[in-house]
Amino acid sequence: MQPLQHLFDNNKAWAASIKEKEPDFFRRLSRHQAPKYLWIGCSDSRVPANQIIGLQPGEVFVHRNIANLVVHTDLNCLSVLQYAVEVLKVRHIILCGHYGCGGVQAALENHEHGLIDNWLRHIKDVIRFNPSQFEGLGHKEKLDLLCELNVKEQVTNICNTTIVQNAWKQGRELSVHGWIYSIEDGILRDLSACLATAEVPTKDVIAPTG
Ligand code: CO
Repeated sequence: MQPLQHLFDNNKAWAASIKEKEPDFFRRLSRHQAPKYLWIGCSDSRVPANQIIGLQPGEVFVHRNIANLVVHTDLNCLSVLQYAVEVLKVRHIILCGHYGCGGVQAALENHEHGLIDNWLRHIKDVIRFNPSQFEGLGHKEKLDLLCELNVKEQVTNICNTTIVQNAWKQGRELSVHGWIYSIEDGILRDLSACLATAEVPTKDVIAPTG
């Protein structure tokens, strides 16, 4: 018996249902990928990129990590970004956070979690950058606000990478979007943190706060 047999059964049924609708689907996709979008989101199992935005395999390039962070020295994320921008030539980078994010919640509390605390430190920095905005708020409001500010901070980090800066210097059409998803109702919201070629200086993008 194959371990996790039900997953292989699911896979067969899924592939068959796609082929039924479009017999040439997998052959066509196997030749090349040309996604227009790069999605950087949280690893949370409730926030699956393709399903949320209703896209098929081949339509969105995806990077996910805990709390959707773009850390200046994270070679994993930066490699995905470089490949998406320079090789796949995506037109849109979507940084999508979500309300109720466990990583953001852990950063808001003062418990020790081991190694991951070093990763979460980047979210604690977001509080440090915006201390006055958290004054007088209850826990739920703080959590929601930090989820939103974290999205905006990571949008800024994307914009400040050499990869995006160089694309903009070359006059490439490339937009960076900051979105947030609600697990409670399945709805995406635009945080109006979008930056595109013509709107930003090509050096040190300032974090859009508030
Ligand atoms: Co999360």
